[in-house]
Amino acid sequence: MIDNIQNIAKKLVIDGKGILAADESTATIKKRFDQIDTESNAETRRDYREMLFSTKEAMEKNISGVILYDETIKQKCRDGRSITDLLRETDTLIGIKVDTGVKKLAKFGNETITEGLDGLRERLDEYYSIGASFAKWRAVINITEDTPSDYAISTNSQALARYSALCQESGLVPIVEPEVLMDGENAKHNIDECKLVTSKILQSVFEELSSARVDLDGIILKPNMVIQGKNCDEKATPMEVAKQTLDCLEQNVPTSVAGICFLSGGQTDLQATEHLSIMNSLKKINHTLTFSYGRALQQSALIAWSGKDENIKDAQNAFAHRAHMNGLASIGQWSIELDQ
Ligand code: 13P
Repeated sequence: MIDNIQNIAKKLVIDGKGILAADESTATIKKRFDQIDTESNAETRRDYREMLFSTKEAMEKNISGVILYDETIKQKCRDGRSITDLLRETDTLIGIKVDTGVKKLAKFGNETITEGLDGLRERLDEYYSIGASFAKWRAVINITEDTPSDYAISTNSQALARYSALCQESGLVPIVEPEVLMDGENAKHNIDECKLVTSKILQSVFEELSSARVDLDGIILKPNMVIQGKNCDEKATPMEVAKQTLDCLEQNVPTSVAGICFLSGGQTDLQATEHLSIMNSLKKINHTLTFSYGRALQQSALIAWSGKDENIKDAQNAFAHRAHMNGLASIGQWSIELDQ
């Protein structure tokens, strides 16, 4: 039976589960494989992702959906089954990254606009026919001395809204990801600055979603947490990150949104888990808060795997552990003792 988008969105944020973001572009996954001295080609990328998706314990207990890249959604496992069939075996919802990446925004220096709207309706129809039930589009906002500009915020929000409306028309749940980056050289990028910019982009996104007639109970918001930039010396405590993030979401996210799944954005595995767990233990917000992590779910498994078949079991154990810890965080029950 084909589910409606509201039911799919609810399933994505069901208690104890979250999303595995495994949709790194070919260029990004190459950078990850460079860390483990492994060549990135279609076969090694398939082997790595098949290793993750066949970690039965993690997939059944803690992963509600996986975001795939175009190459992966059309790939076959080593034994000839399709990757999509492998995911269906553990009742994992299939997601697909549909933006085509960030490009420089003309006349706006290093600011970016996310592309991929041309021909999107047809691509969504194709992905739906292969079995996708949700999609992802990532807008990128960078904090520097003189950015983000109002224009970068509004034009990226408008693209997210047009994408979301197209997804819903095609029967797919849009994951709406406006990411305020943690990266950058700016020493003034403290937690307050991040909160200000995150609030601005969220306000703009929800204005545009409303203008585009997007049903908020059929979307998932994928925001950054409110946290200082990597090069800022003023480090906020985990409790401050959790409280400021909750405050920002409470002020800017309508309660009808089906769920909120954070990106990890360069936080360490432990930070991403701890912040999520504190937020859920504070129970200060009506939304379901869970994870849609890429690096924070995969990093330890990637290192354990290191491109070698003989390491598959260790890598799967590492992935299952992080998935379990984040599953606990999604219900506010993680602790450092359990993580060791
Ligand atoms: P990270 O958790 O590594 O930030 O990746 C999540 C993601 O999907 C970024 O688009």
